Amino acid sequence: MKAEILELLRSRQEHVSGQELAERFGVSRNAVWKAVESLKKEGYDIEAVRNRGYLLNEADEVYGRDELVSRLHTKWAGCTLRFFAELGSTNAQAKIEAEDGAPHGTLVVTDMQTAGRGRRGKQWSSPAATNLYFSIVLRPQLSPNKAPMLTLVMAHSVAEGIRRITGLSAGIKWPNDIVISGKKVCGILTEMSAEPDYIQHVVIGVGVNVRKQAFEGELARRACCLEQECGFQVSRGALLAVIMEQFEKDYECFMQSEDMSGLMESYCNLLVNRGREVCVLDPAGEYRGVSRGITPGGELLVELPDGRVRQVYAGEVSVRGIYGYV
Ligand code: BTN
Repeated sequence: MKAEILELLRSRQEHVSGQELAERFGVSRNAVWKAVESLKKEGYDIEAVRNRGYLLNEADEVYGRDELVSRLHTKWAGCTLRFFAELGSTNAQAKIEAEDGAPHGTLVVTDMQTAGRGRRGKQWSSPAATNLYFSIVLRPQLSPNKAPMLTLVMAHSVAEGIRRITGLSAGIKWPNDIVISGKKVCGILTEMSAEPDYIQHVVIGVGVNVRKQAFEGELARRACCLEQECGFQVSRGALLAVIMEQFEKDYECFMQSEDMSGLMESYCNLLVNRGREVCVLDPAGEYRGVSRGITPGGELLVELPDGRVRQVYAGEVSVRGIYGYV
């Protein structure tokens, strides 16, 4: 009931009487009072005025399970929600939960990670009270070789979510990154447990830089955060809820055709490396070309100087802009 009270107070932005809340949720006024006291202990600033009722003031962000439940309006994505104040890695935790039988759509969220994982064995800097770190467990009935496309689906959902919440023109750097003004704001790490012809589960982990933070080394040039780009405070809960809503739609669209065709137009509009010269770091030899969008199978199309077009498979290679990161 705490999440429902939060949601109602947030939507009204005025005093709501204990009587009204009690009637709405079919409980006593005392039960409402107890729930409000518990929310206050979690950090919510709820003013209680005699004869007027309760008013929620959301100047400071409170980040926890009730906050997320109060904002999520999905059918399955995040309906099983595991929130931790601290974790090693949400991907590692989601894998444990998946192996324990967690249902499709289980969402693991934390405020900070002590062993955040990036791609290619890199670390993912994960300070507390700063960023979004989450992983979703999926159980798609899909051939394992199609699973890498799920990264593209999530990238589309995150870019759209960021645009909807901040108004920023976030784009996709194929296949795993979201960028704003040429700098990385989000990374995606997809891991799968499968037999040759059967997916046990897929875990998609997402890290979005939200608040201002000190980026170290090379990141100082290459990374950015949402709040510095948009200039206002971003609620991590609201952002996560919008991403989940979008992902649910995008995933269902993807599963209808089991490829990117339904998302193709929107995806290609968000693709920042489209029409740009890229360097493909293929283990068999580096080459350059101009990126021309993706195939329905999710491969990047790269046009070589002689006009031939190559299809680049995600996971196999890394793609860099020739003048910088994008
Ligand atoms: C990248 O290298 O760009 C991918 C970074 C993925 C980071 C996210 S944060 C939440 C989830 N848990 C992890 O340990 N990693 C992913």
